[in-house]
Amino acid sequence: MKFTIGKGNGVSVHLAFEESLEDLDGHITDYLEKRKVFSGKAGEVSPILGCTEEYILLGLGKKEDLDLETLRLATFKLRKELETLKIEEITLELPDLKVNDEKNLCAIKATKALVEGFFQGDYKFDEYITKEEEEKKDFELTVDLVPREGYEEKTKLAIEETTGLMEGYFLTRDLVNRPPIDLYPETLAKAAVDALEPLGVKVTVYDKKEIEEMEMHAFLAVAEGSDKEPKFIVMEYLPVNDGETTALVGKGLTYDSGGYAIKPAKGMDTMNSDMAGSASVIGTIYALAKNKVQRNVVGIVAACENMISGRAYKNGDIISSKKGSTIEVGNTDAEGRLTLADAIYYAATETDAVEIYDIATLTGAALVSVGAETTAVMSNNDEMWKAVEKAANDTGDLMHRLNDNKRLRESIKSDRADISNTGSTRWAGSQTAAFFCEHFAEDKPWLHFDIAGPAYNDGAYDYLPKYATGTPVRTLYKVIFDKANTDTPEDM
Ligand code: BES
Ligand code: ZN
Ligand code: ZN
Repeated sequence: MKFTIGKGNGVSVHLAFEESLEDLDGHITDYLEKRKVFSGKAGEVSPILGCTEEYILLGLGKKEDLDLETLRLATFKLRKELETLKIEEITLELPDLKVNDEKNLCAIKATKALVEGFFQGDYKFDEYITKEEEEKKDFELTVDLVPREGYEEKTKLAIEETTGLMEGYFLTRDLVNRPPIDLYPETLAKAAVDALEPLGVKVTVYDKKEIEEMEMHAFLAVAEGSDKEPKFIVMEYLPVNDGETTALVGKGLTYDSGGYAIKPAKGMDTMNSDMAGSASVIGTIYALAKNKVQRNVVGIVAACENMISGRAYKNGDIISSKKGSTIEVGNTDAEGRLTLADAIYYAATETDAVEIYDIATLTGAALVSVGAETTAVMSNNDEMWKAVEKAANDTGDLMHRLNDNKRLRESIKSDRADISNTGSTRWAGSQTAAFFCEHFAEDKPWLHFDIAGPAYNDGAYDYLPKYATGTPVRTLYKVIFDKANTDTPEDM
Protein backbone atom coordinates (compact mmCIF):
# COMPACT_ATOMS: atom_id res chain seq x y z
CA MET A 1 0.00 0.00 0.00
CA LYS A 2 1.22 3.47 -0.87
CA PHE A 3 0.31 6.80 0.66
CA THR A 4 1.15 10.03 -1.10
CA ILE A 5 0.29 13.59 -0.22
CA GLY A 6 -1.65 15.73 -2.68
CA LYS A 7 -4.50 15.26 -5.10
CA GLY A 8 -3.94 12.30 -7.42
CA ASN A 9 -5.90 10.82 -10.31
CA GLY A 10 -7.86 8.24 -8.36
CA VAL A 11 -11.53 8.14 -7.48
CA SER A 12 -12.43 10.81 -4.87
CA VAL A 13 -13.58 9.52 -1.53
CA HIS A 14 -15.81 11.84 0.47
CA LEU A 15 -16.18 11.47 4.21
CA ALA A 16 -19.73 12.21 5.32
CA PHE A 17 -21.55 12.56 8.62
CA GLU A 18 -25.02 11.19 9.01
CA GLU A 19 -26.57 14.52 9.92
CA SER A 20 -24.80 16.70 7.39
CA LEU A 21 -25.02 15.08 3.98
CA GLU A 22 -25.77 18.54 2.62
CA ASP A 23 -22.10 19.41 3.22
CA LEU A 24 -21.25 17.18 0.27
CA ASP A 25 -20.98 18.67 -3.24
CA GLY A 26 -24.34 19.99 -4.44
CA HIS A 27 -25.02 17.47 -7.19
CA ILE A 28 -24.15 14.50 -4.96
CA THR A 29 -26.65 15.76 -2.41
CA ASP A 30 -29.32 16.03 -5.13
CA TYR A 31 -28.51 12.52 -6.28
CA LEU A 32 -28.70 11.18 -2.74
CA GLU A 33 -32.02 12.94 -2.18
CA LYS A 34 -33.41 11.19 -5.22
CA ARG A 35 -31.92 7.73 -4.74
CA LYS A 36 -31.65 7.43 -0.96
CA VAL A 37 -28.65 5.10 -1.43
CA PHE A 38 -26.47 6.52 1.31
CA SER A 39 -27.30 7.70 4.80
CA GLY A 40 -23.81 8.36 6.23
CA LYS A 41 -23.95 5.63 8.88
CA ALA A 42 -20.56 4.72 10.33
CA GLY A 43 -18.64 2.43 7.98
CA GLU A 44 -21.15 2.72 5.13
CA VAL A 45 -19.37 2.66 1.75
CA SER A 46 -21.30 3.86 -1.27
CA PRO A 47 -19.62 4.02 -4.67
CA ILE A 48 -21.16 6.34 -7.26
CA LEU A 49 -19.38 5.10 -10.33
CA GLY A 50 -19.83 5.07 -14.08
CA CYS A 51 -20.82 8.77 -14.22
CA THR A 52 -18.64 11.53 -15.64
CA GLU A 53 -17.42 12.22 -12.14
CA GLU A 54 -16.91 9.22 -9.90
CA TYR A 55 -17.16 9.29 -6.14
CA ILE A 56 -17.13 7.00 -3.20
CA LEU A 57 -18.97 8.11 -0.11
CA LEU A 58 -17.73 6.88 3.23
CA GLY A 59 -20.02 7.27 6.22
CA LEU A 60 -18.71 8.34 9.61
CA GLY A 61 -21.99 8.21 11.53
CA LYS A 62 -23.08 10.97 13.88
CA LYS A 63 -20.60 13.70 14.79
CA GLU A 64 -21.26 13.26 18.49
CA ASP A 65 -20.33 9.55 18.27
CA LEU A 66 -17.18 9.98 16.20
CA ASP A 67 -14.13 8.39 17.77
CA LEU A 68 -10.89 6.83 16.56
CA GLU A 69 -12.39 3.33 16.32
CA THR A 70 -15.10 4.60 13.95
CA LEU A 71 -12.41 6.07 11.71
CA ARG A 72 -10.33 2.88 11.72
CA LEU A 73 -13.34 0.75 10.93
CA ALA A 74 -14.47 3.10 8.15
CA THR A 75 -11.21 2.97 6.17
CA PHE A 76 -10.89 -0.76 6.91
CA LYS A 77 -14.26 -1.32 5.22
CA LEU A 78 -13.35 1.07 2.41
CA ARG A 79 -10.13 -0.84 1.75
CA LYS A 80 -12.07 -4.12 1.47
CA GLU A 81 -14.69 -2.57 -0.83
CA LEU A 82 -12.01 -1.08 -3.09
CA GLU A 83 -10.52 -4.51 -3.55
CA THR A 84 -13.90 -5.87 -4.62
CA LEU A 85 -14.38 -2.94 -6.99
CA LYS A 86 -10.80 -3.31 -8.26
CA ILE A 87 -10.18 0.38 -7.67
CA GLU A 88 -6.47 0.79 -7.09
CA GLU A 89 -6.16 4.54 -6.57
CA ILE A 90 -8.19 6.96 -4.53
CA THR A 91 -7.93 10.54 -3.33
CA LEU A 92 -9.09 11.19 0.20
CA GLU A 93 -9.55 14.72 1.45
CA LEU A 94 -9.01 15.15 5.16
CA PRO A 95 -11.63 17.42 6.68
CA ASP A 96 -11.42 18.86 10.19
CA LEU A 97 -12.24 15.82 12.28
CA LYS A 98 -11.75 17.55 15.60
CA VAL A 99 -15.50 17.55 15.93
CA ASN A 100 -15.65 15.81 19.23
CA ASP A 101 -13.52 17.00 22.13
CA GLU A 102 -15.03 14.48 24.52
CA LYS A 103 -13.78 11.56 22.44
CA ASN A 104 -10.22 12.87 22.58
CA LEU A 105 -9.93 13.52 18.85
CA CYS A 106 -7.37 15.70 17.18
CA ALA A 107 -6.45 16.09 13.51
CA ILE A 108 -3.28 14.04 13.80
CA LYS A 109 -4.79 11.20 15.82
CA ALA A 110 -7.68 11.12 13.34
CA THR A 111 -5.27 10.92 10.39
CA LYS A 112 -3.33 8.11 12.07
CA ALA A 113 -6.57 6.20 12.68
CA LEU A 114 -7.70 6.58 9.06
CA VAL A 115 -4.30 5.43 7.80
CA GLU A 116 -4.32 2.52 10.26
CA GLY A 117 -7.71 1.36 9.00
CA PHE A 118 -6.30 0.98 5.47
CA PHE A 119 -3.42 -1.07 6.85
CA GLN A 120 -5.78 -3.23 8.91
CA GLY A 121 -7.68 -4.04 5.72
CA ASP A 122 -4.46 -4.95 3.95
CA TYR A 123 -3.17 -7.67 6.28
CA LYS A 124 -3.06 -11.27 5.21
CA PHE A 125 -1.03 -14.28 6.20
CA ASP A 126 -0.57 -16.55 3.19
CA GLU A 127 3.03 -17.73 3.60
CA TYR A 128 1.84 -21.34 3.63
CA ILE A 129 -0.60 -21.20 0.72
CA THR A 130 0.79 -22.60 -2.52
CA LYS A 131 0.54 -19.95 -5.22
CA GLU A 132 -0.25 -20.62 -8.85
CA GLU A 133 2.83 -19.78 -10.88
CA GLU A 134 1.12 -17.20 -13.03
CA GLU A 135 -0.95 -15.70 -10.25
CA LYS A 136 -1.89 -12.06 -10.77
CA LYS A 137 -0.07 -9.51 -8.69
CA ASP A 138 -1.72 -8.64 -5.40
CA PHE A 139 -4.18 -5.80 -5.22
CA GLU A 140 -2.20 -2.62 -4.61
CA LEU A 141 -3.84 0.49 -3.29
CA THR A 142 -2.54 4.03 -3.63
CA VAL A 143 -4.15 6.58 -1.34
CA ASP A 144 -3.56 10.22 -2.14
CA LEU A 145 -4.21 12.09 1.08
CA VAL A 146 -5.10 15.75 0.75
CA PRO A 147 -4.40 17.30 4.15
CA ARG A 148 -6.14 20.36 5.47
CA GLU A 149 -4.23 23.54 4.74
CA GLY A 150 -1.13 23.90 6.89
CA TYR A 151 -1.07 20.23 7.88
CA GLU A 152 1.18 18.88 5.11
CA GLU A 153 4.22 18.19 7.22
CA LYS A 154 2.23 16.79 10.15
CA THR A 155 0.20 14.53 7.87
CA LYS A 156 3.42 13.22 6.33
CA LEU A 157 4.78 12.42 9.80
CA ALA A 158 1.49 10.79 10.84
CA ILE A 159 1.63 8.50 7.80
CA GLU A 160 5.27 7.60 8.42
CA GLU A 161 4.68 6.88 12.08
CA THR A 162 1.63 4.73 11.44
CA THR A 163 3.53 2.83 8.75
CA GLY A 164 6.35 2.01 11.21
CA LEU A 165 3.87 0.97 13.87
CA MET A 166 1.91 -1.24 11.48
CA GLU A 167 5.08 -2.97 10.29
CA GLY A 168 5.87 -3.93 13.88
CA TYR A 169 2.26 -4.92 14.55
CA PHE A 170 2.14 -7.15 11.46
CA LEU A 171 5.55 -8.62 12.27
CA THR A 172 3.97 -9.74 15.56
CA ARG A 173 1.01 -11.29 13.71
CA ASP A 174 3.29 -13.09 11.25
CA LEU A 175 5.43 -14.59 14.03
CA VAL A 176 2.37 -15.79 15.95
CA ASN A 177 0.75 -17.23 12.81
CA ARG A 178 3.77 -19.36 11.89
CA PRO A 179 3.41 -23.04 12.82
CA PRO A 180 5.67 -24.52 15.52
CA ILE A 181 7.42 -26.82 13.02
CA ASP A 182 9.10 -23.66 11.71
CA LEU A 183 8.86 -21.26 14.63
CA TYR A 184 10.75 -22.59 17.64
CA PRO A 185 13.15 -20.91 20.08
CA GLU A 186 16.09 -20.77 17.67
CA THR A 187 14.04 -19.40 14.75
CA LEU A 188 12.19 -16.96 17.01
CA ALA A 189 15.57 -15.63 18.17
CA LYS A 190 16.75 -15.42 14.57
CA ALA A 191 13.60 -13.50 13.60
CA ALA A 192 14.33 -11.00 16.40
CA VAL A 193 17.93 -10.59 15.22
CA ASP A 194 16.90 -10.21 11.56
CA ALA A 195 14.15 -7.68 12.26
CA LEU A 196 15.81 -5.60 14.96
CA GLU A 197 19.55 -5.48 14.32
CA PRO A 198 19.17 -3.47 11.06
CA LEU A 199 17.35 -0.85 13.17
CA GLY A 200 20.27 -0.54 15.59
CA VAL A 201 18.78 -2.71 18.35
CA LYS A 202 21.33 -4.94 20.09
CA VAL A 203 20.02 -8.51 20.26
CA THR A 204 21.82 -11.05 22.46
CA VAL A 205 20.78 -14.70 22.26
CA TYR A 206 21.90 -16.94 25.13
CA ASP A 207 22.02 -20.71 24.55
CA LYS A 208 21.22 -23.51 27.00
CA LYS A 209 24.69 -23.60 28.53
CA GLU A 210 24.58 -19.87 29.20
CA ILE A 211 21.04 -20.13 30.60
CA GLU A 212 22.36 -22.80 32.99
CA GLU A 213 25.18 -20.46 34.00
CA MET A 214 22.55 -17.76 34.67
CA GLU A 215 20.83 -20.28 37.00
CA MET A 216 17.40 -19.96 35.39
CA HIS A 217 16.17 -23.21 36.93
CA ALA A 218 12.45 -22.59 36.48
CA PHE A 219 12.82 -21.71 32.79
CA LEU A 220 15.10 -24.73 32.26
CA ALA A 221 12.62 -27.10 33.96
CA VAL A 222 9.92 -26.16 31.45
CA ALA A 223 12.31 -26.45 28.49
CA GLU A 224 13.65 -29.84 29.57
CA GLY A 225 11.01 -31.99 27.87
CA SER A 226 11.74 -30.65 24.40
CA ASP A 227 14.44 -31.57 21.90
CA LYS A 228 14.46 -27.95 20.80
CA GLU A 229 17.08 -25.94 22.66
CA PRO A 230 15.75 -23.02 24.77
CA LYS A 231 16.99 -19.53 23.99
CA PHE A 232 17.07 -16.49 26.23
CA ILE A 233 16.71 -13.38 24.08
CA VAL A 234 17.61 -9.86 25.24
CA MET A 235 16.85 -6.91 22.95
CA GLU A 236 18.29 -3.52 23.86
CA TYR A 237 16.96 -0.36 22.24
CA LEU A 238 18.78 2.44 24.05
CA PRO A 239 18.46 5.70 22.11
CA VAL A 240 18.71 8.05 25.13
CA ASN A 241 22.02 8.41 27.00
CA ASP A 242 21.35 8.25 30.73
CA GLY A 243 17.60 7.95 30.04
CA GLU A 244 15.16 5.78 31.99
CA THR A 245 14.62 2.25 30.75
CA THR A 246 11.37 0.29 30.41
CA ALA A 247 11.52 -3.52 30.41
CA LEU A 248 9.12 -5.56 28.28
CA VAL A 249 9.07 -9.26 29.18
CA GLY A 250 7.18 -11.57 26.79
CA LYS A 251 6.03 -15.15 27.30
CA GLY A 252 7.80 -17.16 24.60
CA LEU A 253 6.31 -20.67 24.61
CA THR A 254 6.71 -21.54 20.94
CA TYR A 255 4.48 -24.52 21.71
CA ASP A 256 2.52 -25.50 24.79
CA SER A 257 1.33 -29.12 24.76
CA GLY A 258 0.64 -28.85 28.49
CA GLY A 259 3.49 -31.25 29.23
CA TYR A 260 2.48 -34.25 31.37
CA ALA A 261 -0.67 -32.31 32.32
CA ILE A 262 -1.40 -32.70 28.63
CA LYS A 263 -3.99 -30.50 26.98
CA PRO A 264 -6.93 -32.04 25.14
CA ALA A 265 -6.43 -31.95 21.33
CA LYS A 266 -8.98 -29.15 20.99
CA GLY A 267 -7.09 -26.85 23.32
CA MET A 268 -3.70 -27.73 21.86
CA ASP A 269 -4.14 -26.87 18.21
CA THR A 270 -3.82 -23.12 18.79
CA MET A 271 -0.83 -23.36 21.11
CA ASN A 272 1.53 -22.08 18.44
CA SER A 273 0.14 -18.76 19.71
CA ASP A 274 1.64 -19.23 23.17
CA MET A 275 4.57 -17.03 22.15
CA ALA A 276 2.30 -14.07 21.33
CA GLY A 277 3.68 -12.13 24.32
CA SER A 278 7.23 -12.45 23.02
CA ALA A 279 6.13 -11.60 19.48
CA SER A 280 4.44 -8.46 20.78
CA VAL A 281 7.68 -7.45 22.52
CA ILE A 282 9.63 -7.93 19.27
CA GLY A 283 6.97 -6.08 17.23
CA THR A 284 6.77 -3.18 19.70
CA ILE A 285 10.54 -2.73 19.82
CA TYR A 286 10.59 -2.88 16.01
CA ALA A 287 8.02 -0.06 15.81
CA LEU A 288 9.76 2.05 18.46
CA ALA A 289 13.15 1.70 16.79
CA LYS A 290 11.75 2.24 13.28
CA ASN A 291 10.06 5.45 14.43
CA LYS A 292 13.04 6.48 16.55
CA VAL A 293 10.90 6.95 19.68
CA GLN A 294 13.17 8.46 22.36
CA ARG A 295 12.82 6.05 25.27
CA ASN A 296 15.15 3.24 26.33
CA VAL A 297 13.54 -0.18 26.15
CA VAL A 298 14.88 -3.62 26.90
CA GLY A 299 12.95 -6.65 25.67
CA ILE A 300 13.37 -10.01 27.39
CA VAL A 301 12.13 -13.41 26.20
CA ALA A 302 12.67 -16.85 27.70
CA ALA A 303 11.81 -18.98 24.65
CA CYS A 304 11.14 -22.71 24.86
CA GLU A 305 8.62 -25.49 24.18
CA ASN A 306 6.53 -27.30 26.81
CA MET A 307 6.68 -30.95 25.73
CA ILE A 308 6.65 -34.50 27.03
CA SER A 309 9.67 -36.83 27.19
CA GLY A 310 11.58 -38.96 29.68
CA ARG A 311 13.36 -35.79 30.79
CA ALA A 312 10.29 -33.59 31.14
CA TYR A 313 9.31 -32.07 34.48
CA LYS A 314 6.28 -33.54 36.23
CA ASN A 315 3.22 -32.60 38.24
CA GLY A 316 4.39 -32.73 41.85
CA ASP A 317 7.97 -31.68 41.13
CA ILE A 318 9.69 -29.06 43.23
CA ILE A 319 12.02 -26.88 41.20
CA SER A 320 14.20 -23.84 41.90
CA SER A 321 14.46 -20.45 40.18
CA LYS A 322 17.03 -17.74 39.43
CA LYS A 323 15.73 -15.82 42.43
CA GLY A 324 16.30 -18.87 44.65
CA SER A 325 12.62 -19.36 45.55
CA THR A 326 11.57 -23.01 45.40
CA ILE A 327 8.43 -23.74 43.39
CA GLU A 328 5.97 -26.59 43.72
CA VAL A 329 4.77 -27.64 40.26
CA GLY A 330 1.08 -28.36 40.79
CA ASN A 331 0.54 -28.56 37.04
CA THR A 332 3.04 -28.66 34.17
CA ASP A 333 0.53 -26.73 32.04
CA ALA A 334 1.01 -23.66 34.24
CA GLU A 335 4.43 -23.33 32.57
CA GLY A 336 4.30 -19.75 31.31
CA ARG A 337 4.64 -18.23 34.77
CA LEU A 338 7.71 -20.44 35.42
CA THR A 339 9.51 -19.09 32.36
CA LEU A 340 8.37 -15.55 33.19
CA ALA A 341 9.61 -15.94 36.79
CA ASP A 342 13.24 -16.08 35.67
CA ALA A 343 12.77 -13.53 32.86
CA ILE A 344 11.06 -10.99 35.16
CA TYR A 345 13.67 -11.55 37.87
CA TYR A 346 16.36 -10.93 35.23
CA ALA A 347 14.59 -7.67 34.22
CA ALA A 348 14.39 -6.58 37.87
CA THR A 349 17.96 -7.41 38.87
CA GLU A 350 20.16 -7.45 35.77
CA THR A 351 18.88 -4.45 33.81
CA ASP A 352 18.43 -0.74 34.59
CA ALA A 353 14.66 -0.95 34.12
CA VAL A 354 12.64 1.42 36.30
CA GLU A 355 9.41 -0.36 35.35
CA ILE A 356 8.53 -3.83 34.09
CA TYR A 357 5.66 -4.88 31.81
CA ASP A 358 5.05 -8.56 31.17
CA ILE A 359 2.90 -9.74 28.30
CA ALA A 360 1.66 -13.33 28.26
CA THR A 361 -0.97 -15.73 26.94
CA LEU A 362 -1.12 -16.94 30.49
CA THR A 363 -4.50 -18.23 31.64
CA GLY A 364 -7.70 -19.68 30.25
CA ALA A 365 -9.28 -18.05 33.30
CA ALA A 366 -8.74 -14.63 31.72
CA LEU A 367 -11.21 -15.56 28.98
CA VAL A 368 -13.71 -16.65 31.61
CA SER A 369 -13.44 -13.42 33.58
CA VAL A 370 -13.17 -10.71 30.92
CA GLY A 371 -14.05 -12.47 27.65
CA ALA A 372 -11.98 -13.38 24.62
CA GLU A 373 -11.60 -9.81 23.29
CA THR A 374 -10.20 -8.14 26.40
CA THR A 375 -6.76 -8.11 28.00
CA ALA A 376 -6.79 -8.83 31.75
CA VAL A 377 -4.41 -6.50 33.56
CA MET A 378 -2.84 -6.69 37.01
CA SER A 379 -0.42 -4.13 38.44
CA ASN A 380 1.22 -3.01 41.66
CA ASN A 381 1.33 0.56 40.38
CA ASP A 382 -1.64 2.88 39.75
CA GLU A 383 0.36 5.27 37.56
CA MET A 384 1.32 2.46 35.18
CA TRP A 385 -2.29 1.32 34.95
CA LYS A 386 -3.48 4.90 34.29
CA ALA A 387 -0.99 5.25 31.44
CA VAL A 388 -2.08 1.91 29.95
CA GLU A 389 -5.77 2.74 30.28
CA LYS A 390 -5.25 6.12 28.57
CA ALA A 391 -3.22 4.59 25.73
CA ALA A 392 -5.68 1.73 25.21
CA ASN A 393 -8.49 4.25 25.01
CA ASP A 394 -6.78 5.71 21.94
CA THR A 395 -5.65 2.47 20.30
CA GLY A 396 -8.91 0.57 20.68
CA ASP A 397 -7.40 -2.36 22.60
CA LEU A 398 -9.84 -3.48 25.29
CA MET A 399 -8.23 -3.68 28.75
CA HIS A 400 -9.63 -4.45 32.17
CA ARG A 401 -7.77 -4.31 35.48
CA LEU A 402 -8.59 -7.24 37.74
CA ASN A 403 -9.12 -7.03 41.48
CA ASP A 404 -6.36 -7.46 44.01
CA ASN A 405 -6.64 -8.16 47.74
CA LYS A 406 -4.86 -9.84 50.63
CA ARG A 407 -6.95 -13.01 50.47
CA LEU A 408 -6.29 -13.43 46.74
CA ARG A 409 -2.58 -12.83 47.30
CA GLU A 410 -2.46 -15.86 49.57
CA SER A 411 -3.43 -18.02 46.62
CA ILE A 412 0.18 -18.69 45.54
CA LYS A 413 1.07 -20.30 48.88
CA SER A 414 2.40 -23.85 49.03
CA ASP A 415 3.08 -26.07 52.04
CA ARG A 416 5.73 -28.06 50.16
CA ALA A 417 7.81 -25.19 48.73
CA ASP A 418 8.15 -21.38 48.87
CA ILE A 419 5.36 -20.92 46.31
CA SER A 420 3.16 -23.00 44.02
CA ASN A 421 2.57 -22.55 40.28
CA THR A 422 -1.11 -23.42 40.61
CA GLY A 423 -1.84 -22.01 44.04
CA SER A 424 -4.12 -23.09 46.78
CA THR A 425 -7.47 -22.06 45.32
CA ARG A 426 -9.53 -23.14 42.31
CA TRP A 427 -10.70 -19.58 41.74
CA ALA A 428 -9.29 -16.35 40.29
CA GLY A 429 -6.74 -18.19 38.15
CA SER A 430 -5.59 -15.04 36.32
CA GLN A 431 -4.84 -13.22 39.56
CA THR A 432 -2.99 -16.25 40.98
CA ALA A 433 -0.82 -16.36 37.85
CA ALA A 434 -0.17 -12.61 38.06
CA PHE A 435 0.81 -12.72 41.75
CA PHE A 436 3.18 -15.55 40.94
CA CYS A 437 4.87 -13.30 38.33
CA GLU A 438 4.90 -10.31 40.69
CA HIS A 439 6.84 -12.36 43.28
CA PHE A 440 9.82 -12.13 40.89
CA ALA A 441 9.55 -8.39 40.12
CA GLU A 442 11.32 -7.45 43.36
CA ASP A 443 8.85 -4.66 44.21
CA LYS A 444 9.66 -2.75 41.02
CA PRO A 445 6.71 -0.97 39.34
CA TRP A 446 5.15 -3.83 37.41
CA LEU A 447 2.20 -4.33 35.09
CA HIS A 448 0.98 -7.63 33.70
CA PHE A 449 -1.02 -8.14 30.48
CA ASP A 450 -2.78 -11.50 30.24
CA ILE A 451 -3.55 -11.73 26.51
CA ALA A 452 -4.75 -15.37 26.41
CA GLY A 453 -8.00 -14.18 24.79
CA PRO A 454 -7.26 -11.21 22.52
CA ALA A 455 -3.89 -12.32 21.07
CA TYR A 456 -5.47 -15.00 18.89
CA ASN A 457 -8.99 -14.97 17.42
CA ASP A 458 -11.09 -17.95 16.46
CA GLY A 459 -12.97 -15.66 14.08
CA ALA A 460 -12.54 -12.16 12.60
CA TYR A 461 -14.42 -9.19 14.08
CA ASP A 462 -14.31 -5.43 13.46
CA TYR A 463 -10.95 -4.89 11.75
CA LEU A 464 -9.18 -7.73 13.59
CA PRO A 465 -8.48 -10.92 11.65
CA LYS A 466 -8.98 -14.58 12.47
CA TYR A 467 -5.86 -16.03 14.20
CA ALA A 468 -3.08 -13.66 15.32
CA THR A 469 -4.18 -10.10 16.11
CA GLY A 470 -0.97 -8.38 17.24
CA THR A 471 -2.60 -7.32 20.53
CA PRO A 472 -1.32 -5.41 22.53
CA VAL A 473 1.45 -3.95 20.32
CA ARG A 474 -0.46 -0.74 19.56
CA THR A 475 -1.05 -0.01 23.25
CA LEU A 476 2.50 -0.89 24.35
CA TYR A 477 3.83 1.37 21.61
CA LYS A 478 1.51 4.21 22.66
CA VAL A 479 2.40 3.94 26.36
CA ILE A 480 6.08 4.26 25.52
CA PHE A 481 5.48 6.91 22.84
CA ASP A 482 3.55 9.01 25.39
CA LYS A 483 6.39 8.70 27.92
CA ALA A 484 8.92 9.81 25.31
CA ASN A 485 6.84 12.80 24.17
CA THR A 486 5.92 14.76 27.25
CA ASP A 487 5.04 17.84 25.19
CA THR A 488 2.17 15.88 23.53
CA PRO A 489 2.85 16.95 19.93
CA GLU A 490 -0.29 15.07 18.88
CA ASP A 491 -2.66 17.55 20.47
CA MET A 492 -3.92 20.13 18.03
N1 BES B 1 -1.00 -21.20 27.43
C1 BES B 1 -1.96 -21.53 28.41
C2 BES B 1 -3.06 -20.48 28.57
C3 BES B 1 -3.99 -20.26 27.41
C4 BES B 1 -5.22 -20.88 27.39
C5 BES B 1 -3.68 -19.40 26.39
C6 BES B 1 -6.10 -20.66 26.35
C7 BES B 1 -4.55 -19.18 25.33
C8 BES B 1 -5.77 -19.81 25.32
C9 BES B 1 -1.30 -21.69 29.77
O1 BES B 1 0.01 -22.16 29.74
C10 BES B 1 -2.11 -22.70 30.56
O2 BES B 1 -2.24 -23.78 30.08
N2 BES B 1 -2.66 -22.28 31.69
C11 BES B 1 -3.46 -23.13 32.50
C12 BES B 1 -3.11 -22.89 33.96
C13 BES B 1 -3.71 -23.87 34.91
C14 BES B 1 -3.13 -25.25 34.66
C15 BES B 1 -3.43 -23.40 36.31
C16 BES B 1 -4.94 -22.79 32.24
O3 BES B 1 -5.26 -21.61 32.06
O4 BES B 1 -5.73 -23.70 32.17
ZN1 ZN C 1 0.17 -24.26 29.66
ZN1 ZN D 1 1.12 -21.69 28.00
